[in-house]
Amino acid sequence: MDNNKSKFSVSPEQLKKQTEYADLVRTVLASRFPIEPPKAFVHTYGCQGNVADGERLKGMLCDMGYVLTDKVEEADLVLYNTCAIREHAQDRVYGNVGALKQYKTAKPDMIIALCGCMMQQGYVAERIRNSFRYVDLVFGTHVIYKLPEFIYRCLCTGKRVFDITDSDGNIVEGLPIKRDGAFKAWVPIMYGCNNFCAYCVVPYVRGRERSRSFDDVVNEVELLVKQGYKEINLLGQNVNSYNKDLSEEYRFPALLRRINAIDGDFIIRFMTSHPRDCTKELIDTMADCKKIAKHLHLPVQSGNDRVLKEMNRHYDREKYISLIDYAYQKMPELSITSDIIVGFPGETYEEFKDTLSLIEYVKYTSLFTFIFSPRPGTKAYDMPDPVSRKEKGEWFSQLTALQEKVAGERTAKMKDCVYRVLVEEEKSDGILSGRTEGNVIIEFPGKKELIGSFAYVKVTEPKTWILKGELYESNERI
Ligand code: 5AD
Ligand code: SF4
Repeated sequence: MDNNKSKFSVSPEQLKKQTEYADLVRTVLASRFPIEPPKAFVHTYGCQGNVADGERLKGMLCDMGYVLTDKVEEADLVLYNTCAIREHAQDRVYGNVGALKQYKTAKPDMIIALCGCMMQQGYVAERIRNSFRYVDLVFGTHVIYKLPEFIYRCLCTGKRVFDITDSDGNIVEGLPIKRDGAFKAWVPIMYGCNNFCAYCVVPYVRGRERSRSFDDVVNEVELLVKQGYKEINLLGQNVNSYNKDLSEEYRFPALLRRINAIDGDFIIRFMTSHPRDCTKELIDTMADCKKIAKHLHLPVQSGNDRVLKEMNRHYDREKYISLIDYAYQKMPELSITSDIIVGFPGETYEEFKDTLSLIEYVKYTSLFTFIFSPRPGTKAYDMPDPVSRKEKGEWFSQLTALQEKVAGERTAKMKDCVYRVLVEEEKSDGILSGRTEGNVIIEFPGKKELIGSFAYVKVTEPKTWILKGELYESNERI
């Protein structure tokens, strides 16, 4: 059919074995916790892909008989689903794991478990093994479906369990899912990454690119829409290479068009698009399909050709700009966001200025900006890096000041316009908050009952990052 299912799929037998372990865990927990069910505290760090994994981990835990808690101190099981993208992300996890020791001392039966991208790295798992001896369970990204087996071993042998099996990765369908939200859903369409950008740890911790089957994705979205979900976020490290080896019939634009055709009132978002694989066809699809949010997250990383080459990005400034020009031509209202790395090893100030000029040119709605963080095992880790952290910090401030100016100019133009907004939460008493299609936050007075539905909101006071507005009740919809 449309997918290389056999190559990456975990076999039904392997999954059945885990279902049996889940049954065993349920029995053990029922006898150990006869009055109240045991509680699990799960925290996910990092990107939406990790959040989607977290929802499956929670689903499996609930299936085994745990109930979720947001109070770590009352938990019988603590699970941290970690991220490795920057050193800072890892340091935070070490700090938070350190803080768990007191709870374990007070409650020795508590299970402390760590998983996710950070744990997939051998040197991290070793550090946990040797320096955090109260951690019971460590497992990597390729074996999350084995959680029932791991928990069973922890409960019944009392021995520490470590499994960071390295592999090209797999695709596991049918795991129980406990979704975090009732109207925004995360739907992975592909896993892993083949790009090996010089700075990035993801290909090492998430395995090779592999796509879920077209039908599995469509069926999941159909079900979500039936359940009342209003925003579908399609996820992948590089969604534009979805089903790369297959005919056009099953590639990403086709998937978008198929999902757009599902009956119901919902919007479609997707991330992340790699500029190398972003095509005019994708942009045409966005323009054609009403349900696709007019927002494109297209990480450029740098505006300088030499730096882009060193980063192994496989596109240059000209190609990036031609995509942007085409996209604005097709969708003048399009909102574009990006990721930028400041201070890649060897980057000079002159080269950095090319990033600034690109920001002026594209007029991004917002940016995710990072100072380069050396990741062990990547190519950039060993590259000479003469610019001091202090100097990179100064460049970084320059960049954020420029983006603030650009964003302010963009939002100023939004005054008095009316936007369709998915209402997300109550920010403070009587003040709701939602997002425009372009992913700009807007706050306005309104009743809580609107949360989870679409509303039309008129911008009354645009600030740089947040718009203030009021409900637009007229029949004349814009
Ligand atoms: N240092 C700084 N930023 C990084 N990113 C990825 N790896 C690194 C690194 N080593 C940023 C990139 C990417 C985003 C998810 O994180 O900008 O697009
Ligand atoms: Fe962090 Fe990357 Fe893993 Fe996401 S895929 S959790 S950003 S390391």
